[in-house]
Amino acid sequence: MCGIIAYAGHRPAVPVLIQGLKSLEYRGYDSAGLAFVHRESLHLFRASGKLEALETKLDSDHVLHATSGIGHTRWATHGLPNETNAHPHLDINAHLAIVHNGIIENFQDLKTMLAGFGCSFRSETDTEVLVCLISQRLKEGGSIPEAISWALNLIEGSYAFALISKNHPGTIWAARQASPLIFGQGTGENFVASDIPAFLPFTRDVIFLEDNELVEMNSDQWTVYDARTLEPITKDIQAISWDVQAARKGGYKHYMLKEIFEQPQVIRDCMTGRIERKTWNIQLPEIESLPIPKRLHIIACGTSFHAGLWGKYLMENLARIPVDVEIASEFRYKPLVTEEDKVYLTISQSGETADTLAALALVKKHGFPVLGLCNVVGSSIARESDHVIFTQAGPEISVASTKAMCSQLVLIFLLSLYWARRKKLLDSQAVENAVGSLTALPDKLELELPVMRERAAVISRTYSASRSFFFLGRGIYYPLALEGALKLKEISYIHAEGYAAGELKHGPIALIDPDFPTLAIAPDDSLLGKIKSNLKEIQARKGKIIALTQDGTGLNVDDEWTIPKTWGALNSFFILPALQLFAYETAVYLGKDVDQPRNLAKSVTVE
Ligand code: AGP
Repeated sequence: MCGIIAYAGHRPAVPVLIQGLKSLEYRGYDSAGLAFVHRESLHLFRASGKLEALETKLDSDHVLHATSGIGHTRWATHGLPNETNAHPHLDINAHLAIVHNGIIENFQDLKTMLAGFGCSFRSETDTEVLVCLISQRLKEGGSIPEAISWALNLIEGSYAFALISKNHPGTIWAARQASPLIFGQGTGENFVASDIPAFLPFTRDVIFLEDNELVEMNSDQWTVYDARTLEPITKDIQAISWDVQAARKGGYKHYMLKEIFEQPQVIRDCMTGRIERKTWNIQLPEIESLPIPKRLHIIACGTSFHAGLWGKYLMENLARIPVDVEIASEFRYKPLVTEEDKVYLTISQSGETADTLAALALVKKHGFPVLGLCNVVGSSIARESDHVIFTQAGPEISVASTKAMCSQLVLIFLLSLYWARRKKLLDSQAVENAVGSLTALPDKLELELPVMRERAAVISRTYSASRSFFFLGRGIYYPLALEGALKLKEISYIHAEGYAAGELKHGPIALIDPDFPTLAIAPDDSLLGKIKSNLKEIQARKGKIIALTQDGTGLNVDDEWTIPKTWGALNSFFILPALQLFAYETAVYLGKDVDQPRNLAKSVTVE
């Protein structure tokens, strides 16, 4: 996620902007920039890399004269992390400057339209298209709010932006749609930012702007409008009591909890630009040139490996493509068995995991195509892959991976549908049903997460003294059982094993006793009867059972945890956060360091 800060007030703007961007650094970024108006000219400073690189460029004497401006830290989603693609972006006449967070889905169509008006572009970004759209409308007269409103009626996707004009020094316009933007009211100064920490040292009086709201502000005044109709909207100021740390976590106690609750938005962001709105067709331009694989070989570590194993079940079921899934540290040290028409898929949130990177290099050395599924643009695995799909989950700060896995599952789901459609195994109606269910999921999950958290907190109290746990699942939920066990292990330090439920009789059931509980994933599907038999075997040995299940399954267990029901494999998007929250609430109850668990690193860049 990019960071935005805009300031209009009585202080020198540049130090305020730099300080604001520094307070947003925790969100992760790969380039930065700022712009301000001084003596009827727009001054623009940008740098790839960290803020220090930007600060070394702020050498002009105007830097301390401007008392308003905009700043940005960029988390690349379109275009490489370099200075050309860094924000702010100017229109071609350098009258306007804009900083933007979000993804404009139809920016290529708009770029083509603007080129028809003679517009030219300097960058690969969707943001530059937005500022050129506004500039194009201004040529026909009218106010900046009118030009903004016109432009916003044309774009599709998510945005939070701040804009300045050399012809209106001291005034800033900002608007949002599906991307956070907060207004801060000071004394003789006003702010807009993506996140409260950016201006918390200056004011605690805020307005959380809502979708389709546009704010026009200068040092002394501000007005909020409906961004489409330009009707003024009355808004109430809220006083924030958070400290800076709490503000960085959006008021959540831990980054992990914040990132678990970000998952509904992550599902929306993963779909942005990938579902053609009218036809529901899946669009994955990143792999259009890649032939449909006869066989897919997935390589990953940890949580990403679990996502890959989940993908095996889905890909084989929907696209009828045989899938092998291997742990990278095992794959890299065995002889490579080559096979024609095989595609290798490396899955990695960080894109820097040493074993996965080494496995990728081994495959490339043998001349096989590698598709990367990564969250970090510009990461090593992203750069080394022949094709790369970015999960667009935004920076994941907590060591325990949560929203990244959610994004990996969404992309694997879309990839499976994409290849199934191209193999004519699914008709457009089937794809529309599946994509329609996925599209409906975020709102349902948003409602369910608070309920899940409460249930997780109650159940975790009962079992937090356990010395070991089984996590059981069948079919596509077996990988989620592995993931639930990993989450519990890595943040609560309780030993846990994920198992295919059918494996119990082949040894593990010897461990069952009243102090060795089992969390069973038992949705209402074709394998429910089998799971019920497994649970009876556990109960016969006085083992305690938590069942993550759905209405009507009629389970008689110690703790029944009912979650909503949806289409097929998409039930995973309710089960996964429940497992994450169970581990989270257990770890919090045990007083563990949830975001920085002992012995762990966010990215394992060494063997
Ligand atoms: C997951 O909670 C862990 N932090 C870890 O297993 C992680 O998934 C693994 O190290 C792989 O990381 P990557 O996705 O960045 O390659």
